[in-house]
Amino acid sequence: MTEENEPKKLRIGVIFGGQSAEHEVSLRSAQAVLAALDRSKYDVTLIGITRTGRWLPLEAPEDEVDPAKLMAPFANPEATDNTTHAALLPDPSLRGLAELIEAEPGMGLEFGQPLDVVFPVLHGPYGEDGTLQGLLELANLPYVGPGVLASALGMDKVAQRELFRAYGLPVIAYILLKRRDWQATAGNESARTALRNQIEERVGYPCFVKPVNMGSAVGVNKARDAAELDRALDEAARYDRKLMVEKAVNPRELEVAVLGNDEPIASVVGEIGHASEFYDYQTKYMTPDNEYHIPAKISSELSQHIREMAIKAYLALDCAGMTRVDFFLDRPTHQLYLNEVNTIPGFTSVSMYPMLWEASGISYPALVDRLINLALERHADKNKNELYPM
Ligand SMILES: Nc1ncnc2c1ncn2[C@@H]1O[C@H](COP(=O)(O)OP(=O)(O)O)[C@@H](O)[C@H]1O
Ligand SMILES: [Mg+2]
Repeated sequence: MTEENEPKKLRIGVIFGGQSAEHEVSLRSAQAVLAALDRSKYDVTLIGITRTGRWLPLEAPEDEVDPAKLMAPFANPEATDNTTHAALLPDPSLRGLAELIEAEPGMGLEFGQPLDVVFPVLHGPYGEDGTLQGLLELANLPYVGPGVLASALGMDKVAQRELFRAYGLPVIAYILLKRRDWQATAGNESARTALRNQIEERVGYPCFVKPVNMGSAVGVNKARDAAELDRALDEAARYDRKLMVEKAVNPRELEVAVLGNDEPIASVVGEIGHASEFYDYQTKYMTPDNEYHIPAKISSELSQHIREMAIKAYLALDCAGMTRVDFFLDRPTHQLYLNEVNTIPGFTSVSMYPMLWEASGISYPALVDRLINLALERHADKNKNELYPM
């Protein structure tokens, strides 16, 4: 075959790292994605975002992914004398990436290879929450995963629940609180008691206190009495201007991977077994012995029901590409609740989302291919829209 006859390779931009508590997980997810990308089909442009939000154009390892090589610029990025910044420009005619070079006397600008598709392998705020997706929309680039609205809803635990409720999907009782209203009661015991009374009436103890927009159980705490509630609200208030308090249940934690655009499919159901009181950051990422049960040991009727609910939730939020949908099955009452969705779920080789697909017959590399195709399909569909009447 001559070169001209070979199908053109797609240039994929992989963005990872980021300003979130899930920075480390993102590095590992990106490493797994890079290892799975078939280099006979894809050219890779690698963009790493440091913890302080700096964008670095990185050397994409040719084939074998050497983790040390990928991670090196992140060891101490602010200390490097790297004077090059990566920039994704919103002008759609540029199709992507530029490199800004700090040079005397001004800034140099160099354009990178035009991108065909972007895979944001970023978890949490400023990556999974619609902000980056907005930039990719402006640039008119196809990208993996849900769009702006679904991503933002996926990050906002209250907004998504309100929609779930509207679609008749079961959610745990909760109360929403503004940080400023909570903090305004500091030093005013009667005001504080009144606020606490409202929470105790609507939710009661034990309860879970969470920042509304966050992930990885950052700022999430269980409260068993008024003193713990105060402490938990103070802590959640460090991370968001909206706080939620919800009834604590004693859950089995069940998760489903959903894949697709307008006709999504659901994987088998998985279960997370963990010894600690709840699935907090420490348990998620620092303890090696979390157990995944794939498929979960539940009846086939329940499994079917959960998978249908996962698809309903996916469509309710207008997700695209992928999303992991997480459920609680309350042990004492057997009541099933939709807990939350993750629009860019952990993507390491041992993460739940890809493992659920492995168990459902889609290998990790095939999954990455499918996600890229779904991104292209959704982008083509969007580009059927006329911008204004001709
Ligand atoms: N209402 C609840 N009852 C019991 N456990 C809960 C409740 N809410 C959260 N948890 C525990 O805390 C973990 C993290 O909460 P979650 O709402 O999923 O936040 P995150 O987005 O950080 O994953 C859950 O996986 C679960 O172990
Ligand atoms: Mg969760």
